[in-house]
Amino acid sequence: MPLHTQVDESSQDEGLEVNPVYVRELSCEIPRYRLPAHGVLPRTALQVVRDELILDGNARLNLATFVTTWMEPEAEQLMAECAAKNMIDKDEYPQTAELERRCVNILSSLWHAPAGGQAAGCSTTGSSEACMLGGMALLWRWRARRTAAGLDAARPNLVMGSNVQVCWEKFCRYWQVEPRYVPMVPGRLHLRGAEAAARCDENTIGVVAIMGSTMDGSYEPVLEISHALDRLQSEQGHDVPIHVDGASGGFVAPFLQPDLEWDFRVPRVASINASGHKYGLVYPGVGWVLWRNPDALPDDLVFRVNYLGGEMPTFALNFSRPGAQVAAQYYNFVRLGHEGYRHVQQTCQDIALHLSGEIAKMGPFELLTEGRDLPVFAFKLCDDVTSYSVFDLSERLRMRGWQVPAYTFPADLTEMAVIRIVVRNGFSLDLANLLLEDLRRQVQVLEHHPQTQPPPDIQQQRQSFKH
Ligand SMILES: Cc1ncc(COP(=O)(O)O)c(C=O)c1O
Repeated sequence: MPLHTQVDESSQDEGLEVNPVYVRELSCEIPRYRLPAHGVLPRTALQVVRDELILDGNARLNLATFVTTWMEPEAEQLMAECAAKNMIDKDEYPQTAELERRCVNILSSLWHAPAGGQAAGCSTTGSSEACMLGGMALLWRWRARRTAAGLDAARPNLVMGSNVQVCWEKFCRYWQVEPRYVPMVPGRLHLRGAEAAARCDENTIGVVAIMGSTMDGSYEPVLEISHALDRLQSEQGHDVPIHVDGASGGFVAPFLQPDLEWDFRVPRVASINASGHKYGLVYPGVGWVLWRNPDALPDDLVFRVNYLGGEMPTFALNFSRPGAQVAAQYYNFVRLGHEGYRHVQQTCQDIALHLSGEIAKMGPFELLTEGRDLPVFAFKLCDDVTSYSVFDLSERLRMRGWQVPAYTFPADLTEMAVIRIVVRNGFSLDLANLLLEDLRRQVQVLEHHPQTQPPPDIQQQRQSFKH
């Protein structure tokens, strides 16, 4: 979360302007940065807070996020009913714990965990926490192996593409692991097997493969990476496990690409994470991480909490957490079933392919991806378009309410600026066609009114989109 700084003393008491029509109390003073001396009636508080939020974007028009922005009323009702439940209180809410257990089992079979009940997993606040847990397990395993062999365990590294989500940079910084980024180059926009294996050595705790890349929605070839690591092992002896960051793809590939081998079918895959709140179709606040077997999850990372007179193993960075999202995840599994999930993801993909196909035909754009892996695609301006940028286009689309991010790629393609569109459940074909109309109109405007360069500080802000 943004790190907020303390507001200057002189503006501490600057009060909110409250419309007198809202106020039933005799007086109503609400300082902005201090706790008010007295409360107000619930309706006044509701109106004041709602007014503050008017300027937030419309979540349904947010094509930047991977995170769920629409759930059906029954799911919302269930979440409201479960709002008071704390996920950590296993004793008090044993049935919520049971729903979490069922979800882990459903995912372990979707991700082809080996038969025999050896896989283990848990819910998290999202993929960032799940990746942190997956990374810790890799680190602990590597350290235990090195220490047992009497070898130096001071310089761990993790190999991944420079296109990884920022959570992996965080993991490396917080746990003092050297990040070994494989740069992107024209024509290779994500990690491939040979480049991954070339950066591994005896200090490599693992390789992260992404399903799919936050930058352009493409899947990294897990099986190819695994084969390259098999060769590395036979030639140099380093046995390097893979963690699959399936933040989005963990809930897409099982339904749209069932024959693609990216999960526990690949023996080198030790662990997988996914965001329940992305293509798992739940509102923000739930992720999942699973390990293939007990070897992949060192026991000394596991804490045991009291549970119905016994003890329950847990692995988490935080303690209290809302239970509603887990109930909603289970609701989705029951409500949609395999066929329902397939239908939802297929509809998203059809719309993504329709959009990318039409955008390719417009003329000024070149597609980097079409949306054939995740229902996500990225495109850039053709090299001969110089009178406006993707940032200009993104800003103009915002005038109609569309939130379509423009951003630059990571190393070594930092000069490449693109627009990315994430198609999610709730973004209909009608909305897609309206977006296409607006895109055509804004291109016309920009072609007739070439843009001037904004001042450097505005340029900097435009490029600061974070995934
Ligand atoms: C590949 C990948 N990994 C991890 C994350 C972090 O996910 P979360 O927002 O669930 O913490 C994202 C988010 O977009 C992602 O795309």
